[in-house]
Amino acid sequence: MTAEIRRARPGEETAVSRLLAEIWHATHDAELGRDKVAEITTKWHAPPLLRAQIDDPAKCFLVAEADDGRLVGHAMSWLDGGATINLLRLYVLPARQGGGLGRRLLAEAVAAYPAANVLRLEVQAQNAPAIRFYERLGLRATGDTGERGGFTDIPAIVMEKPLLLAGGGSFS
Ligand SMILES: CC(C)(COP(=O)(O)OP(=O)(O)OC[C@H]1O[C@@H](n2cnc3c(N)ncnc32)[C@H](O)[C@@H]1OP(=O)(O)O)[C@@H](O)C(=O)NCCC(=O)NCCS
Repeated sequence: MTAEIRRARPGEETAVSRLLAEIWHATHDAELGRDKVAEITTKWHAPPLLRAQIDDPAKCFLVAEADDGRLVGHAMSWLDGGATINLLRLYVLPARQGGGLGRRLLAEAVAAYPAANVLRLEVQAQNAPAIRFYERLGLRATGDTGERGGFTDIPAIVMEKPLLLAGGGSFS
């Protein structure tokens, strides 16, 4: 099974919203509960909000599209202050996890900003598989937000990777 990684097109916001809801439930229901996950994903991934991000040329809004046309992955990054890439989202459908899509999406989300010197993201402190994935790709924990996106009871850690050092920009 292959997948093409490309910029999202206007009109795909509802499909991305559904994809994010599916992955959020699969990833976080056990820890946060189904109702809380529904509340978060409905608020954060509302189609009009996603549409504004797709339309924003300053944002790198990526999707992974499978051969059958289904969206199976998504990443979004943006440049903060001219030198720091913020990875706001990186999600792969459970059935497609472990097949290299996360690595490819992350590499594309970084390649969009070749002059940046740091990659930065926040990940929920209890999301151990994602933390191991990011460590595998060379990111290291650098801090602790204590909260994430206004949900103050969900602690998150900050992870970073320098990009301009030898090999820093590589995700292979
Ligand atoms: C985290 C996520 C994006 C990773 O994407 P993926 O497609 O499953 O990962 P890949 O197949 O590209 O893996 C890349 C490398 O990381 C490793 N890796 C992936 N998950 C890992 C884990 N849980 N523990 C250790 N290594 C892991 C892979 O083995 C691979 O290394 P290798 O090439 O040396 O074998 C994906 O699993 C996901 O969407 N998870 C649920 C949502 C989530 O938590 N997103 C992050 C929110 S901040």
